[in-house]
Amino acid sequence: MNSVLVASNRGPVSFTVSDDGVLTMKRGGGGLVSGLSGVTKEHGVLWVCAALSDGDRSAVRLAPGGRLDHAGYDTGALRMLDIPAATFHRAYNAVANSTLWFVNHLLYDIPNAPSFGARFHREWESYRDYNGAFALALAEEAAHEARVMVQDYHLTLTPAMLRAERPDLRIAHFSHTPWAPPEYFSLLPDEVGREVLEGILGADHAGFLTGRWAGAFMDCCRSLLGAEVDTAARTITHEGRTTRVGVHGLGVDGEALCDRAAEPDVESHMTALREQVGDRRLIVRIDRTELSKNIVRGLHAYREFLAAHPEWHGRVVHLAFAYPSRHDLPEYREYTATVQRCAQEIEDEYATEDWDPLILNVNDDYPRSLAAYRLADVLLVNPIRDGMNLVAKEGPILSPRAALVLSREAGAAAELGGHALLVNPYDVSGTAAALHEALMMPEEERVRRRDELVAAATALPPQKWLSAQLDALDDRPA
Ligand code: G6P
Repeated sequence: MNSVLVASNRGPVSFTVSDDGVLTMKRGGGGLVSGLSGVTKEHGVLWVCAALSDGDRSAVRLAPGGRLDHAGYDTGALRMLDIPAATFHRAYNAVANSTLWFVNHLLYDIPNAPSFGARFHREWESYRDYNGAFALALAEEAAHEARVMVQDYHLTLTPAMLRAERPDLRIAHFSHTPWAPPEYFSLLPDEVGREVLEGILGADHAGFLTGRWAGAFMDCCRSLLGAEVDTAARTITHEGRTTRVGVHGLGVDGEALCDRAAEPDVESHMTALREQVGDRRLIVRIDRTELSKNIVRGLHAYREFLAAHPEWHGRVVHLAFAYPSRHDLPEYREYTATVQRCAQEIEDEYATEDWDPLILNVNDDYPRSLAAYRLADVLLVNPIRDGMNLVAKEGPILSPRAALVLSREAGAAAELGGHALLVNPYDVSGTAAALHEALMMPEEERVRRRDELVAAATALPPQKWLSAQLDALDDRPA
């Protein structure tokens, strides 16, 4: 039995299986996993996650009770749930990623979507089953009065389901995404919206990355559930129970990141990149190929910048690393194709025999990303909306001189905004102007701003972020 548990869809590792049946393990990606991976092992936390792929399923089936650590993997205490593939796909792709993610990031093309018919209601049933499987596993593994930390939009129903099974537990839910304002959140069918909110309110503590997302959640609870909300005290009382709302702005473990970025694989990528771009200035972006990251408008902004500033032709290169993500969804495949098309247009218009204005890379390569951070003069982070955005925090830590162009809609803007060049992510011309300003920023100013960015980015490293939430569970309201 465990006294501290974490639950999330994606776990710290994933497996691929080769044709001859050999399993290979690699580290999971995304902000949530980067934040938690470093700290759970040290705290002796049991992590419960879902099997996402065939490789994961093969690994789980060979592990006693789904415990990968008991099967000899160096994962820390980890139980992976082998949820039936069809249920998993409906819960993960159709509900979590195509609905809740779209709602909270305001991604719908409203005249055409969403449209909630019978099919959605079947998918919603699967989302319930999937959340129920987590609640059951947590109920089995948790010691009396254990603290359980449920993560993100995949698992909004789990807290209430778990409380029904195990009222002794102290339960937290944490949202790594933004939260939508009530008028957008209420695109969801009323009963579904209510179930999501009441699912999270099953927790003692509902955590968010910024005050803005916490505020939007409280507004939704007030207007959709009629809950009693004390905004100043950050409490929500609904049907006789009170849930505390907390703001914990996940940051970066600067030392660990610098150590990793000093390793030889990163150094050799730096050498290779330098050979490729010479001594030209570098504008860097690193993202999952994700609709909310706004990569296409970022490329349009770079193109406008090149059009307006011929004096920079031949003297600057844009490194755009856009890693594959959620390719089961057609919107993501189309988006990747659009990104590639835009990049090609820039090449066609501006490339010369000895100058490549843009290097787009769509393969995952962590050490190469770290190398790009280290070389960056400008870091472009322009999401439409983002829970936090750790790239905005990692970049300045690794680059001694990068100026940060940051979307005001990223959660990170709350902490870094004063030291970044803030942009409206829809304003392509404004973003182009900010790229120019960032390139022109005097050395002294960029170093001063960069030091401030690093201080803000490392203020709440994962270790402290986790302890702050565990502490919040120690004094739950009566
Ligand atoms: C965001 C979410 C995480 C998710 C990550 C990667 O950061 O908040 O929960 O794990 O994206 O997305 P994926 O669908 O690949 O897990």
